[in-house]
Amino acid sequence: MLAKRHLLEPADLSIEEMEEIFSLAEKIIVDPCAFTEICRGKVLATLFFEPSTRTRLSFEAAMLRLGGQTLGFAEASSSSSTKGESLADTIRAVSAYADIIAMRTPKEGAALLASKYSDVPIINAGDGGHHHPTQTLTDLLTIRAYKGGFSGLTIGLCGDLKFGRTVHSLAKAMSRYPNNKFVLISPKELKIPEFITRKVFNDAGVSFIEEEYLENVIGELDILYMTRVQRERFFNEQDYIRLKDSYILDKQKMRNAKQSMIVLHPLPRVNEVAPEVDDDPRAVYFKQVKYGMYVRMALMAKLTGAI
Ligand code: NCD
Repeated sequence: MLAKRHLLEPADLSIEEMEEIFSLAEKIIVDPCAFTEICRGKVLATLFFEPSTRTRLSFEAAMLRLGGQTLGFAEASSSSSTKGESLADTIRAVSAYADIIAMRTPKEGAALLASKYSDVPIINAGDGGHHHPTQTLTDLLTIRAYKGGFSGLTIGLCGDLKFGRTVHSLAKAMSRYPNNKFVLISPKELKIPEFITRKVFNDAGVSFIEEEYLENVIGELDILYMTRVQRERFFNEQDYIRLKDSYILDKQKMRNAKQSMIVLHPLPRVNEVAPEVDDDPRAVYFKQVKYGMYVRMALMAKLTGAI
């Protein structure tokens, strides 16, 4: 039963429940008109204490397309947190107004805390450098569309693997499927944290290698997941400037990739994928955006108990 549940990190959903969400999303893609009244009378609150374009609008578009309504704020400065209100109190109030809450904060663990005070489902739309489970549902639905499944894949994660929450959530989710291998491509300073290598990869017996140069490994990959360097999580600007252009995927590098490889990116992109790559049929990051909206439609239809 998915109704009334919170989604704080990918493992909150079993493989079967994820399957349920993907197959509903695929039904919505085929016949969106059949779902336009499903959430009539339901209200989504979007509480975004950190900037966002895609994620917040994708949640809102998803609820509107299901016939529901939305309210919320797009920046911390317009909320009572600036008056010193605790997250717990904000959530107590908002859960009285809304049937479901999507929230983003710069603090790791904030969504978990919110879930303790909410009478309605909390969806974590990003808690600091920790997790971002609906981006992972987006990534997985895209992978399913292009690769037909989630196993036997060599997955390259490239860029800021230290602070990139989308990377942490994707690594956790894909580690649950058999025979996947990870190639972790990052500068030394931005390596994936131990809570992923030890707790996720080692516990699941997943094999991984760490590599500094994308060109050394691009030819082995089935999926290349590019990410931006997370400027807002750096303590000093000098380090950001030094590391920000560590990777730039361009046509030259794409020449050495398999014809069947796909390039994913959670977006926003800064410099890490050159615009000249956009026309390559293997670059599917803009298609990914649409899958994100459909998978959020399916998720919210389930969590609100509408389906
Ligand atoms: C990501 C995020 O917020 O973590 N964006 C998104 O939700 N699509 C990635 C990022 O900001 O780099």
